[in-house]
Amino acid sequence: MPVALVLLLALSCLIQSNGAGNVCDLGRRPSSRPHSVSILEFGAVGDGKTLNTLAFQNAVFYLKSFADKGGAQLYVPPGRWLTGSFNLTSHLTLFLEKDAVILASQDPSHWQVADPLPSYGRGIDLTGKRYMSLINGYMLHDVVVTGDNGTIDGQGLFWWDRFNSHSLKYSRPHLVEFVSSENVIVSNLTFLNAPEYTIHSVYCSHVYIHRVTANTSPESPYTVGIVPDSSDNVCIQDSTINMGYDAISLKSGWDEYGISYARPTANVQIRGVHLRAASGSSISFGSEMSGGISDVVVLDAYMHNSLSGIAFRTTKGRGGYIKEIDVSNIHMVNVGTAFLANGSFGTHPDSGFDENAFPLVSHIRLHDIVGENISIAGDFFGTEESPFTSVVLSNISLSMTNSGSPDDDSWRCLYVEGSSESVVPEPCYELMSFESSYGRAEAL
Ligand SMILES: *[C@@H]1O[C@H](CO)[C@@H](O)[C@H](O)[C@H]1NC(C)=O
Ligand SMILES: *[C@@H]1O[C@H](CO)[C@@H](O)[C@H](O)[C@H]1NC(C)=O
Ligand SMILES: *[C@@H]1O[C@H](CO)[C@@H](O)[C@H](O)[C@H]1NC(C)=O
Ligand SMILES: *[C@@H]1O[C@H](CO)[C@@H](O)[C@H](O)[C@H]1NC(C)=O
Ligand SMILES: *[C@@H]1O[C@H](CO)[C@@H](O)[C@H](O)[C@H]1NC(C)=O
Ligand SMILES: *[C@@H]1O[C@H](CO)[C@@H](O)[C@H](O)[C@H]1NC(C)=O
Repeated sequence: MPVALVLLLALSCLIQSNGAGNVCDLGRRPSSRPHSVSILEFGAVGDGKTLNTLAFQNAVFYLKSFADKGGAQLYVPPGRWLTGSFNLTSHLTLFLEKDAVILASQDPSHWQVADPLPSYGRGIDLTGKRYMSLINGYMLHDVVVTGDNGTIDGQGLFWWDRFNSHSLKYSRPHLVEFVSSENVIVSNLTFLNAPEYTIHSVYCSHVYIHRVTANTSPESPYTVGIVPDSSDNVCIQDSTINMGYDAISLKSGWDEYGISYARPTANVQIRGVHLRAASGSSISFGSEMSGGISDVVVLDAYMHNSLSGIAFRTTKGRGGYIKEIDVSNIHMVNVGTAFLANGSFGTHPDSGFDENAFPLVSHIRLHDIVGENISIAGDFFGTEESPFTSVVLSNISLSMTNSGSPDDDSWRCLYVEGSSESVVPEPCYELMSFESSYGRAEAL
């Protein structure tokens, strides 16, 4: 073979193996829509009291007819626009002007109800059906939710109270959800008070989320910011997320339902994010990961006031995998556990799970990380049946809350294998060896 060709092949392999590297470069700018209508033209009233569900539904129905004419924009002017749940359509841009606030109704009868997702088999909070999200996209392509930093407020307190008092009828709704959709952009908006997840993309490809702010109160139960779920080619960039539970959580289905649906989350890049996760993790993988999670790059993140920084969660019965994860250039401040990997975490959807469906957690690289006021550096608890393998730590410097205390429990490790270099405090014995399989593979 000519040398040039060999070089070319090698180069293209190199570019492809770096797959997650380009999901944040939108090849194509979001097209500006040739048509635009205001929600006012559909009789909406922005007084914070009038229910506008029909106005939104009618506007989207009308704008469907522009799908083959380059699409259209639905413009939401300043005001407080109360609404129940509504659907989007393909080739639509929903644009929220500065000081436009879409307010979610607190009357459950204003929310549509849907069947469980096939990869979960049931709702997350309760068995059976679930409330649909406030804003829904189902089998769409080319859809944009954006604005001049307008706000979508889920008024979640109502749902959090019902969750805490066990008086929900169905599982809580999310704020925005895309199902089986492609080429989705969410940008330049503020999301407040999500009932459960803020932005959920499930069975989607090419999802680009940038310049969003998402907040819920630190006390809100299990609220999560952005959830790429059984989705590929996802970029999350330049965003600030403060949640009760996890700020960003990657998932791919629950036990036997996720295993048989078999749709992984892959090729994800997260960069330039500022995260707080009061009782969860700034970034988590799982615990629902039965369809597999791989090829994820996290870089340039600031994580603060979080129970844990980066968490890998799974349990027996999940099957699936979490592998090829690369996390770097992280700054953590006031974090309980910097790195957490728990192989016995989470419950099952029902009793139909397979006891022998062991998850695989492997090829995790954590590097170029500094931390201040960290209580525990790392907790790695694999299981005997499926130990975590090829965990590689390098250039990590954590200043510990209780440094110098006689019984040093900065790292706690069980059924984990890996290697490390330039890590302070010194990691557990299991992660010190340089002769690990991953280390050798790298050297060859
Ligand atoms: C919204 O889409 C769902 C499918 O995801 C459908 O079942 C429902 O009827 C739609 N609602 C409206 C008002 O069009
Ligand atoms: C958007 O508004 C929120 C508050 O409503 C603010 O915290 C955030 O900084 C704003 N983002 C931008 C990009 O202006
Ligand atoms: C979001 O705002 C930035 C800065 O104003 C702008 O460059 C970008 O095009 C906006 N995104 C969308 C989808 O409108
Ligand atoms: C250290 O972090 C904890 C949270 O993990 C926080 O409660 C505490 O105030 C922080 N201490 C300082 C000195 O910032
Ligand atoms: C792992 O998760 C289980 C279940 O939530 C919990 O009981 C256990 O303490 C966790 N282990 C660690 C090390 O956090
Ligand atoms: C170690 O990581 C820090 C960031 O935490 C980075 O600034 C520094 O360049 C890294 N050092 C090496 C040798 O890569």
